[in-house]
Amino acid sequence: MNLFSQLDEELQPTHEVLAEGAVLMRGRARREDGLLLAGVEAVARAVPFRQMATPGGYRMSVAMTSCGRVGWVSDSERNGYAPGDPEARRMWPGMPEGFRELARASAEEAGFKGFEPDTCLINRYQAGAKLGLHQDRHERDFRQPIVSVSLGLAAVFLWGGFERTEATKRILLEHGDVLVWGGASRLRFHGVMPLKPGVHERTGVYRYNLTFRRVG
Ligand code: SIN
Ligand code: FE2
Repeated sequence: MNLFSQLDEELQPTHEVLAEGAVLMRGRARREDGLLLAGVEAVARAVPFRQMATPGGYRMSVAMTSCGRVGWVSDSERNGYAPGDPEARRMWPGMPEGFRELARASAEEAGFKGFEPDTCLINRYQAGAKLGLHQDRHERDFRQPIVSVSLGLAAVFLWGGFERTEATKRILLEHGDVLVWGGASRLRFHGVMPLKPGVHERTGVYRYNLTFRRVG
């Protein structure tokens, strides 16, 4: 590989279409990882990560916090979006510098112009943490896509169909990968396999995933 093709690869992350409306941009956020991780740290200082309970009576293996106008809250009675974390008794902080613009630009590159997220959910995975198959269906307007940014340790993402029982594809999501799903793929089931233990030079023993959404 010569210098120019090497540069070209770095400047134009590959766009891989997984299905109609779903685009994987490997490495798309790698150049911004410092800003993003500083943002995650600032959000967690305001409202710490915690493993929430589920209405089914379990405790999530993934620890979560949020930023933006609303964020995700789950307990034994309900789950959905709320303006703050009732346990921490804090409002979610605003989105850190660079978050909104990365989400807007990534959505546009995937074919969704005018995406204005009003929340970013931040998931923190440590060894063994996983996320069962689910649909993102608590947002009001399914014409708005989901923009997912992965940082740190790699994870196997499960990409399913429109029924929970449909076969899933396994996709390795690595540091800096951005996955956008909307349009015909907006309500596909998806999840994350248990994280393999490891140490990442930027995030230590963790994987972080940021999902940008337009709730209402
Ligand atoms: C999610 O489905 O909300 C998060 C997915 C991920 O962690 O990659
Ligand atoms: Fe999801």
